[in-house]
Amino acid sequence: MIELASVGRTYGSASAPVTALRDVNLVIQRGEFVAIVGPSGSGKSTLLNLIGCLDQPSSGRLLFLGEDTSTLNDTKLSRIRNRSIGFVFQMFNLVPELTVYENIELPLVYAGVTRQRRALTTKVLERVGMAHRADHPASLLSGGEQQRVAIARALVNDPALILADEPTGSIDPVSAEQVMELLGELHDQARTIVLVTHNMSVAAVAQRVVRIEAGTINEIGHSPVAETRGPAAQVTAAAISATVE
Ligand SMILES: Nc1ncnc2c1ncn2[C@@H]1O[C@H](COP(=O)(O)OP(=O)(O)O)[C@@H](O)[C@H]1O
Ligand SMILES: [Mg+2]
Repeated sequence: MIELASVGRTYGSASAPVTALRDVNLVIQRGEFVAIVGPSGSGKSTLLNLIGCLDQPSSGRLLFLGEDTSTLNDTKLSRIRNRSIGFVFQMFNLVPELTVYENIELPLVYAGVTRQRRALTTKVLERVGMAHRADHPASLLSGGEQQRVAIARALVNDPALILADEPTGSIDPVSAEQVMELLGELHDQARTIVLVTHNMSVAAVAQRVVRIEAGTINEIGHSPVAETRGPAAQVTAAAISATVE
């Protein structure tokens, strides 16, 4: 689904460059649940933003569903984001003065969906257990509730890929468990999930753990569950070595 080949990302000016990622090779197959772990400042968010087509590599190549994203214009990139990707952020990024319902339907408004809007919004609202708060302003919810609403918003366009950047970083442990359970269920429904976290117990929910340090991927591990699945892990390993060559 996603393939990064020798990807680098440098911020700042030519005289004072900050290299956030260097020579990253990574293949994410459709249906995988991948956790990206690493210390603060290691390049996790930079990597996720590239995967989410919110940003472009400074060097190397990123293929999204087989298309080199550097060849796509802004309109095409925003179409990919709107149709294929759901984003979940650490600070939820809801519009505080809109209601829960209005926040969730927003991606459908942007996508120009009218006829099915109510049915689709209601479905995901119920899916995350927030129907009883539909008319509340988002600002009045707890952190855990806001994150569930953010997940519903990410889901409303039925994206194949969910990207979550420290989704449990600002919520209490019980809510964090609910959020991880939700992500696990979405994965079981054949969605691809890429999760960034610095918490190893959160990462353990994923099938596969990619470790990043100082902008470099230095370890790719599979959870015991993924190991027993054998062929998928082998396919992934083969795909990665193919990219390196
Ligand atoms: N917009 C930016 N401009 C300049 N430097 C940035 C920018 N975004 C991130 N960085 C730098 O790139 C490195 C990686 O950042 P980031 O991807 O946010 O790491 P993480 O998410 O793992 O904490 C850090 O050194 C950070 O300071
Ligand atoms: Mg980050």
